[in-house]
Amino acid sequence: MLVSKQSKWDWRTGCSKRSIATPDGLSADELASAAGTEAFYTGVWAKSAYGASLLELNTEGKYVLAPHMDKLLLNPEFPGYVGGIINVFKQPEMFDSFNANLPTGKRTWWDEVSPEFIQGVSGTGAPFYNRLIPGGLAQVPDLVEKLETGASVLELASGAGRGLVKLAAQYPNVSITGLDGDAHSISLAKDRVADAGLSDRVDYLQSTLEDLSEEDKYDFVFINISMHEARDIDLATKNIRNALKPGGIFVISDFPFPDGHEGLRTVPARVMSGIQYFEAQIDDQLVSTETFVKLLQDQGFSGVDSFIISPVHNVIYGTK
Ligand SMILES: C[S@@+](CC[C@H](N)C(=O)[O-])C[C@H]1O[C@@H](n2cnc3c(N)ncnc32)[C@H](O)[C@@H]1O
Repeated sequence: MLVSKQSKWDWRTGCSKRSIATPDGLSADELASAAGTEAFYTGVWAKSAYGASLLELNTEGKYVLAPHMDKLLLNPEFPGYVGGIINVFKQPEMFDSFNANLPTGKRTWWDEVSPEFIQGVSGTGAPFYNRLIPGGLAQVPDLVEKLETGASVLELASGAGRGLVKLAAQYPNVSITGLDGDAHSISLAKDRVADAGLSDRVDYLQSTLEDLSEEDKYDFVFINISMHEARDIDLATKNIRNALKPGGIFVISDFPFPDGHEGLRTVPARVMSGIQYFEAQIDDQLVSTETFVKLLQDQGFSGVDSFIISPVHNVIYGTK
């Protein structure tokens, strides 16, 4: 295992700039002194990290990070960052609680998970926002013009507020409302927006997607890694269409889970299959891009289309 559940020392500490991410590399003993860990255990970790292709050996026989791991695992601003998911997978809400509830199928919701889990999920959402804003949005016809000239925007399931900050900072003329059903997530979002100095352009709405009742109000509505969580996805989509002004655009940014078994044996599908363990506990599952396309078409959106943004990230859009 590269991830330790109990100790604060995990793969991130092992790989951090302070320790293994040095140009000259480190022996296991040098890594132990740099990271402040016990030499024998650190050697076990290093061999396991080498076996998992996280570390390589340089010509002096010292451990160095494998190519690209500095960005993929350690740089949350890199669009391909995957380090966040590891912090989610090691929380008890993922596999421990799934195992405990396997006999009964007991469900939970966001208001019952720990603050650490919510922060972990927010870290997982970061590269999705970084790929979507501005690069992904630029691929949606007619959207950038609206955002640059000053649009009224709604982010659904805004969570800990990364998307609110990212969109408001990228497009200085937009005003944006963050909707979430979970009170703690709304309070995290308020703090993040205030820290970024953007409070004057951001509002909040604590509501479920199914209770959204605004009419003809927004030029643009978007939702990141959460549309699959709607309890009643047809009703939520109907509400979203009602909340848009005529000509307004809706963008879903989500995981593309394969339809059927044939797509499951790929690396991205294996990662997404891990995520399904938590989704099951909040009574949903990730769905395919085709499912979202059909959903928008069935609910009367026009110009519905989609594009792949990374192997774990697709964008689906339509116009009211
Ligand atoms: C996976 S998190 C994503 C948060 C954020 N979009 C991000 O990418 O970091 C899902 C969020 O959706 C909210 N949520 C889930 N189902 C919801 C629903 N039916 N109505 C409103 N909010 C919901 C949760 O409270 C949580 O904050």
